[in-house]
Amino acid sequence: MRIRHIKGAEEAVAADPFVIQEPAAHKGAWNEQVFGRKAPLYLEVGMGMGTFIRSHSLLHPGINYLGFEINTTVLYKAMKRYESELADLGREVKPEGSNLRFIRSDARFLADYFDAEEVDRIYLNFSDPWPKDKNANKRLTSPVFLKLYDKILRKDGMIEFKTDNRGLFDYSVETLPASGWKIQEITYDLHNDPVMNEGNIMTEYEAKFSAKGNPIFKLIACR
Ligand SMILES: C[S@@+](CC[C@H](N)C(=O)[O-])C[C@H]1O[C@@H](n2cnc3c(N)ncnc32)[C@H](O)[C@@H]1O
Repeated sequence: MRIRHIKGAEEAVAADPFVIQEPAAHKGAWNEQVFGRKAPLYLEVGMGMGTFIRSHSLLHPGINYLGFEINTTVLYKAMKRYESELADLGREVKPEGSNLRFIRSDARFLADYFDAEEVDRIYLNFSDPWPKDKNANKRLTSPVFLKLYDKILRKDGMIEFKTDNRGLFDYSVETLPASGWKIQEITYDLHNDPVMNEGNIMTEYEAKFSAKGNPIFKLIACR
């Protein structure tokens, strides 16, 4: 999807208190330094406009959430929407008391930002498919990224991955076991799977593609 640049987005993101400007400075101390409390830490990598993680964070106040996004304009939209949601709920629009923060960065740097086993869960939703073989290492379920997740994720932590892209899903079903992960649960039609769909929160892409009739694939992987 082409995203039109928003004037001033760069400056707004660089000054917003919900955006962590120097993620490496909090390595090993996210809960204490950023959230001011001990709680499970969940990441969404490539959150887009954040529909999924914003809803999750509001539904589960006992969890600390971080939304990772490489594109500044997209992150700006996520942050603005979250701030409006807090205002609409009559909550103070400030990070204190909120369980969601944003990081504008490439997931390649995850191990610079998190200590071994610091993260409890990783969500990958509708990750860019990078269909050409020459770009396979850019896929967020390539062995390159799986190695990073293995480092930062707690030993009993999970990856939850959803997509409507069959090529990317089949690729991930191969790369995960080859990198030492077990596929614990899998469905090729999430919205018609009463067990896996229970409590499902749709992402922007999920709403868009399922409205077109595309089945949604989901897997949960652990080590
Ligand atoms: C297809 S969109 C999906 C957005 C959202 N997760 C959803 O399901 O609606 C993929 C998003 O991942 C972001 N992304 C891609 N590669 C990334 C990377 N290496 N690190 C961080 N974000 C990335 C893109 O900028 C884009 O916003």
